[in-house]
Amino acid sequence: MVHRRDRIDYNGLTLPSNMKLPVHDSHSSQSSPFSPAHVAAVAATAVMPGGVLRTVAAPCRPAAVVKWAGGKQALATHLVRFFPRNLGTYYEPFLGGASVLLALNPERAIVGDMNGWLMDTYEALRADWEKVACLLDGLPNTKQDYLRIRATDPANLDPYARAALFIYLNKAGFRGLFRVNAKGRFNVPYGAYERRYYDPNNLRCFAERLRAVELRRGDFELILAGVCAEDFVYFDPPYYKAGGYADFNRYTHCRFREGDHIRLAALCRELDERGVRWAVSNSDTPFVRSLFDGYDAQPIASRREINLKSQKRDVFELLIRNYTSVECCGKDAGLLAPCARQLELPVAGV
Ligand SMILES: C[S@@+](CC[C@H](N)C(=O)[O-])C[C@H]1O[C@@H](n2cnc3c(N)ncnc32)[C@H](O)[C@@H]1O
Repeated sequence: MVHRRDRIDYNGLTLPSNMKLPVHDSHSSQSSPFSPAHVAAVAATAVMPGGVLRTVAAPCRPAAVVKWAGGKQALATHLVRFFPRNLGTYYEPFLGGASVLLALNPERAIVGDMNGWLMDTYEALRADWEKVACLLDGLPNTKQDYLRIRATDPANLDPYARAALFIYLNKAGFRGLFRVNAKGRFNVPYGAYERRYYDPNNLRCFAERLRAVELRRGDFELILAGVCAEDFVYFDPPYYKAGGYADFNRYTHCRFREGDHIRLAALCRELDERGVRWAVSNSDTPFVRSLFDGYDAQPIASRREINLKSQKRDVFELLIRNYTSVECCGKDAGLLAPCARQLELPVAGV
């Protein structure tokens, strides 16, 4: 916390120096950080006249606000060079952390995901990101607190507290994993990271970016309702297991199984017949190659952040497309791996 003469900087907030700051005693407090009284108190500070002023910087290109298993943070800016020049409406039905959407920055976009809590979080951020940020500021990062907060049932929270809980668990939990048990309860262990939960400027830019897109939720087939011939779809499903190992596949209470990969490939063929352009990312396996037989399949060097052993993070994945390189916005040759090497994908992290 930095004190100036008439103002205090507090977790990215600029506050008047006479303002009472919330005190979080992580050891003594056993009450829920999402209790109605606490949420009301935090909401009040967010709207206090002349009180909270968040630092506003120049317009920016936001980054993802959650770390997401299988996320394309490292690859997104390269990947979008493989996308067509003219997109029509951009569809992304496996949105996850939204890295690809952010790197592409299309004029019109319809995006979504089956993880309802993730989509709720995005909805809450675009409605009032500051309210979410204020609630996050009140969440202590110790193992004891993490386990207590993790036990909160998100169904009992208002949309902003639900969003704050989601981001908190993502940042304080082990490697940013989203893993739920069969009952849909979050069960990722504590991560013990010393890092802030959010960057206020990035959160603001992210929320602004979300306001310009249509958010949907549910299965990928539903998210694509209304797609037509001029449009472009990017599919980044949970990857098909490779090398005998199961890749990470627990983003929702129901897994993405072999039958779902078959369903996705069938949809792609149908879209192709209707003239809709698409690109699909997936593991480079004989199964995936056979599903998309007849289409252009490029092996691309990628990095899997989820693996514990750094030497196992460099792997190759496939980008399958139903359009030609001539239509692309970038020169993609430099991105291709020299050969279609079959590598083992890592074991998911915990
Ligand atoms: C590999 S991740 C996408 C990562 C994303 N491209 C990024 O950069 O963060 C796959 C996503 O598919 C979602 N998902 C799983 N099954 C789905 C389904 N049937 N329909 C739509 N989304 C689904 C998961 O919740 C997860 O966010």
